[in-house]
Order: sequence, then C-alpha cells, then structure tokens
Amino acid sequence: MADEVLYEVEDGVAIITINRPEKYNALNVDVANAMHSFFQKAEEDPEVRAVILTGMGEKAFAAGADITAFPGRDSKTVRPFVEKGQAVANYIEALSIPTIAAVNGYALGGGCEFAMACDIRYASANARFGQPEINLGIIPGYGGTVRLPRLVGLGVAKELVLSGNPIKADEALRIGLVNKVFETVEDLRNGTMELARTLAKKPGVAIKLAKQSLSNAWEMSLKDNLSYEVDVFCQTFDTEDKEEGVDAFLNKREPVFKHK
Ligand code: COA
Repeated sequence: MADEVLYEVEDGVAIITINRPEKYNALNVDVANAMHSFFQKAEEDPEVRAVILTGMGEKAFAAGADITAFPGRDSKTVRPFVEKGQAVANYIEALSIPTIAAVNGYALGGGCEFAMACDIRYASANARFGQPEINLGIIPGYGGTVRLPRLVGLGVAKELVLSGNPIKADEALRIGLVNKVFETVEDLRNGTMELARTLAKKPGVAIKLAKQSLSNAWEMSLKDNLSYEVDVFCQTFDTEDKEEGVDAFLNKREPVFKHK
C-alpha cells in the first residue's frame, strides 16, 4: 500500500502526493497512515524545511474519504476511521515547518479538510472545493466544521456544509479559502514549488514560533495570545538566525540561516 502515497524531497522541500488517481485520490486508512508517517518523516529530517501536499494527476487533490468503506459501518466502527483522519489533519496543522496544499482538482470532504489543515492553499483553475458529506447523510469529520468557518467565516461555511455544493477555484479565492489560483496544474506545481523553496530558506525557529503564535489566535484569549507573542518574539532574539538576519540586512547581503 506504500505507493498509495508518494514522498520525495527536492531543494529542501518534501512533496507528499496522494496517489490513487483512478479513485480521484479518495482517502482510506492506508492513505491516512502513510500521510501521517510521511509528514512525520518530513518534520524529523533537518534537511526538509517545507512540505507540499498534493494529489496525483490533473483531476483530483482528493475527492474525500473512500465511500466504499462506509456501507454497514455504525457509530462504533466508524470512530477509529474518523479519529485517524482528524489526527492526521491535526498533525499537519501543528507541523513546525510550513505546509502548502497544491490543490490540483477536486478537494472534497476529507480532501478539502486536509487542504485546510495546511498553512497555505494554492490551486489550479480546475480545482473544486466542497464539503459534500451532507449528501451522504453525514457531516465533515476531519475538522471541516471547525476549520472552514475559521478560514471563510461562519455564514459562508454554513452554506457550504449544509448545501454540500462545491465551489470553483475563483470562488474559493474570493472567500479566502485559497491564497492563489493558477491557470494550469503545471503552473500550480511550479508556483507552489517556488513558494516552498522560498519558505524553506527562512529561519526555522522564527517560522515555527510565528506559526504557533498565528494558530494560537484560534485557541487563546486575545490577551494571552498577545502575551505569548511577546514571549516568542523575545525567544527569537536568542537565536543565531536573528544575528545572521540582522547582520545580512545591515551589510546589504543575503542571509544564510542555520535554523537555530
Ligand atoms: N470514494 C470512493 N471512490 C470515489 C470517491 C470517493 N470519495 N470519489 C470518486 N471516486 C471514484 C468513483 O467511484 C470512480 O471510480 P470508478 O471509475 O471505479 O467508478 C472514480 O473515482 C471517478 O469518479 P467519477 O464519479 O466517475 O468521476 P466524475 O468526474 O463523474 O465525478 C466527483 C467526480 C469527485 C464529483 C465524484 O466522484 C464525487 O462526487 N465523489 C464523491 C465526493 C464525496 O462525496 N466526498 C466526500 C466523501 S465523505
């Protein structure tokens, strides 16, 4: 099952590709397990400084959970499945290095949810986003009802989840669900790699702390988060990278960060 998800590293960027194109990259337990271990592998490799999550082919990023696993399941037997998917999404979101979803087609259900767990979403013009679970008599379970309203606002999220209607890439851009739309899948892959290469060169400690402080906005009170920001801002002043970044600026040269 290992090749249902592919892993490669290029220029300090890990590329994780869901590889079930004939099933529109539908997600099953093996895919979720492989994704989990590849994200872990990326985080543990000091040479990897950014991750791209994408789908194989030009049709789908991931068309959601594999529906063939649903018949006959009840609340008890579905729980480990949904818990695993949500754990993977949570793991992606908490990763200490930047993550970009390169959405190359349908991102439905769990596909949309995994994309939302990434820091940044780029898409090709043929991408379609949606949470169609309602049409199966179920609801999103990999964090969709939680992350979607945080990204696009409660009213828009309710329309998407309650109607199950998919939206096109330009609409996803308009509502802030994606950061950028490219004309073709090839342009998307190039544009995503360019951003990932840029992010991979940034100082790792500052990246990790900035991500944490940004995410805290969803978890802490305003007062606590502002106080946390002061703490981690101060921490960055103990890093070698801060000396390097400041020295590089003052001496009009490019910084070379060591991520410490
Ligand atoms: N689970 C299992 N198989 C899926 C799937 C899913 N979520 N999404 C697509 N597939 C499979 C189809 O069954 C089909 O397989 P087959 O060729 O063996 O019949 C193949 O992928 C292509 O899908 P198809 O429906 O023929 O393509 P399409 O272009 O007409 O439609 C979609 C594409 C994505 C709109 C449609 O497949 C769809 O609605 N998928 C389900 C989306 C969903 O509800 N996701 C949430 C699940 S909780």
